[in-house]
Amino acid sequence: MNKALVSNIKTHFIAKFKGNPLMIFSPGRINIIGEHTDYNDGFVFPAAVDKGIVAAIEKSDSGVSTAYAVDKEETIAFSINDLKPYPQGSWQNYILGVVAEIQNRSKIIGNFNIAFGGDIPSGAGMSSSAALENSVVFGLNEIFNLGLSKEEMILISQKAEHNYVGVKCGIMDQYASMFGIKNNALLLDCRTIKSKPFEINFKDHELLLINTNVKHSLSDSAYNDRRSVCESIAGMLHVKALRDATEFDLETIKESIAHENYQKALYVIQENDRVIKASKAIEAGDLETLGKLIYASHNGLQHQYKVSSEELDFLVEQAKLNGHVLGARMMGGGFGGCTINLIAKSATESFKKVVSEAYKNKFKKDCSIYFVELSDGTGLIA
Ligand code: GLA
Repeated sequence: MNKALVSNIKTHFIAKFKGNPLMIFSPGRINIIGEHTDYNDGFVFPAAVDKGIVAAIEKSDSGVSTAYAVDKEETIAFSINDLKPYPQGSWQNYILGVVAEIQNRSKIIGNFNIAFGGDIPSGAGMSSSAALENSVVFGLNEIFNLGLSKEEMILISQKAEHNYVGVKCGIMDQYASMFGIKNNALLLDCRTIKSKPFEINFKDHELLLINTNVKHSLSDSAYNDRRSVCESIAGMLHVKALRDATEFDLETIKESIAHENYQKALYVIQENDRVIKASKAIEAGDLETLGKLIYASHNGLQHQYKVSSEELDFLVEQAKLNGHVLGARMMGGGFGGCTINLIAKSATESFKKVVSEAYKNKFKKDCSIYFVELSDGTGLIA
């Protein structure tokens, strides 16, 4: 965790509100494989990382609640008894939504002040939004002794995103951020919301993230559209979710659905299968197979599910040109953000140089390259 960030947020809190806040770190996440499978009750393979959101929070007796986004230098004051989504809101709705969803569960909270900031750029596909939601629900649970379990907290975070932000997200991001385990990735079954930790040590290989620094604006509506296509096809197949369908089942309705929707459902069924295969490859230390599955995931996201972008595809093509990158794919919801690359450590420096130059030449802008450590989930900062 970034100590400078922690002290910066604490300093800003005290300068604005005085007092002695509770400090919380809530991580962002990566996802090794399993994209757009979570809202299909399927499998995903995320891990919390050492980058995320730091929040400072304390009760307030001023009769009003205040939230301060330190990085954006924006503040909102609101009444907890009259909540509604913030017009043209961005970060505001993650906070207001969490408060509203806590109240929907008949939990009583009072006024509070919160200041927060982070070290993952929003739009990177690393779930800064889930990290923020989790930091808020975790902090409120602590200061008002709400007695919420972590399972309840992530469902509150997810509902905030559905109802206040308008994105019908799955549970992967909130789960990974809350339940992360240092040095582990989590094979999560999104139906039972139970996971199995896998210690990640790729020895002479490592995971490298490359941020396109692009986020295309259609992403929220495209996300919700994908989800409704999946749900309607599951309905036609008389199963609860696409997780329960096989390729064979899908063939039986192929002629009665649009080809592009057939491809989307096929992608989900195949991606779910890839996650299980990837977990076995990791267990067996078979990085070649893992890499192939990661490339296949990107291929499906690009051509079948159609949530990639020119910039992401370019970065994956660059990876393919380098024999030391075993696998690369877009990560997260898509339409921008990062690629995740499984690369031989010995080749990382030269690959970073080549890919940065190529990206700059092609798009006239910089990509950003990050290394992450796998970290514990949301918690108090000692
Ligand atoms: C976003 C959502 C997640 C998940 C991914 C795609 O990050 O918040 O629930 O659906 O996209 O895998």
